[in-house]
Amino acid sequence: MVDAQSTQDSLSQVTCKYFESYYGAPAEFLVRAPGRVNIIGEHTDYNGGFVFPAAINYYTYVAASKRQDAVINVVARDWSGQVDRIDLSKPMHFDEARMWPNYIRGVVEQLQKRNYPLRGCDLVVSGNVPQGAGLSSSAALEVGIAKALTHACGLILTPLELAQIGQDAENQFVNCACGIMDQLISTSGVEGHAVMIDCRNFETQSVALPADFEIIIINSSVQRGLVDSEYNLRRAQCETAAAHYGVELLREVSVEQLHAQRGHLDDVCFKRARHVVEENARVLEMVECLASGEFGGLSQLMHDSHESMRTLFEITVPAIDYLVALVAKTLDGEGGVRMTGGGFGGCVVALVPVNKVAQVKAAVEANYFNETGLKEIIYTARASAGVVVLSTDFSAHGTV
Ligand code: GLA
Repeated sequence: MVDAQSTQDSLSQVTCKYFESYYGAPAEFLVRAPGRVNIIGEHTDYNGGFVFPAAINYYTYVAASKRQDAVINVVARDWSGQVDRIDLSKPMHFDEARMWPNYIRGVVEQLQKRNYPLRGCDLVVSGNVPQGAGLSSSAALEVGIAKALTHACGLILTPLELAQIGQDAENQFVNCACGIMDQLISTSGVEGHAVMIDCRNFETQSVALPADFEIIIINSSVQRGLVDSEYNLRRAQCETAAAHYGVELLREVSVEQLHAQRGHLDDVCFKRARHVVEENARVLEMVECLASGEFGGLSQLMHDSHESMRTLFEITVPAIDYLVALVAKTLDGEGGVRMTGGGFGGCVVALVPVNKVAQVKAAVEANYFNETGLKEIIYTARASAGVVVLSTDFSAHGTV
């Protein structure tokens, strides 16, 4: 059981202390960028559709000070203190040996492409967003770095601009064709709320999460293999389907059109398109349920979303399906559960009535390992605010 809150405050202080001992002077400011959990709306973002994520209280911290030259030094506390030195006067190149510097170099490249006048900085990065678990640790890193580097230059970018810099870094430098969801919720999260994002025009609507429910995230500990290639393949299949229906984005296709104009669209692309079209409708229904306080529909919607990911989009794995079935059985129609994120392993998200939390945890702890041979990690999360700049004066901690 992991409790974020107990480690939170200390993690921000630890990051700053680490900075001071490494660079010999205190950090000027600290950026905090959250990971995310998606409540519903999977693989809809790059189809111009709807998603409904929440930023969570697991964060990447970036402690920073300005330098007088054109060098960015980055120390990754969580990677045994590895260092990356970026010379702003030279073109960015991909680090074949280590992955983490690429998210940072990709962001620097995007800021340069947009002609922002960057300056040198000393940085320390550290965080508690679980890595490789589908909770967007890479988006939190991209957003945290983009925020730190722009703040150091006195630039104020909108949440959408910051998110697009992160997404473009991932698309063009890291070579993963992800959508905008992870970066945009990391910049636009609202405490206590999930945020519905229309990924066609980037409008957002925050919806309060019910106070008597908890967000439980269960990491299946399934190693996510082939994620990028399968992800990019799904995206290509959606594009093929969109072209078949004569639209730019699958978002434009209605349920009626999906079936009426199926024609010779092959089975696989049809299944992918059907998932996207129906999942978009589920997001809207979910928002309606929560906004109107009618939580009855929640269970079915999350169930249908999971089934659609299992049978139509084909991105779940047996251990995840088992976990979802186990939690659903325990919830017995109260609250909901589904896989969250890109797929092929990672985490399950459950909205659990407070009085059932202990039961859900007990069921998972008693059965998951016996059934799968894998040890789960259970997180309780709170919906959190998006990226912020914090003071490094811990006697008066607050945003600056
Ligand atoms: C990953 C991507 C997102 C989104 C989800 C699936 O997290 O980064 O853009 O496509 O998968 O919903």
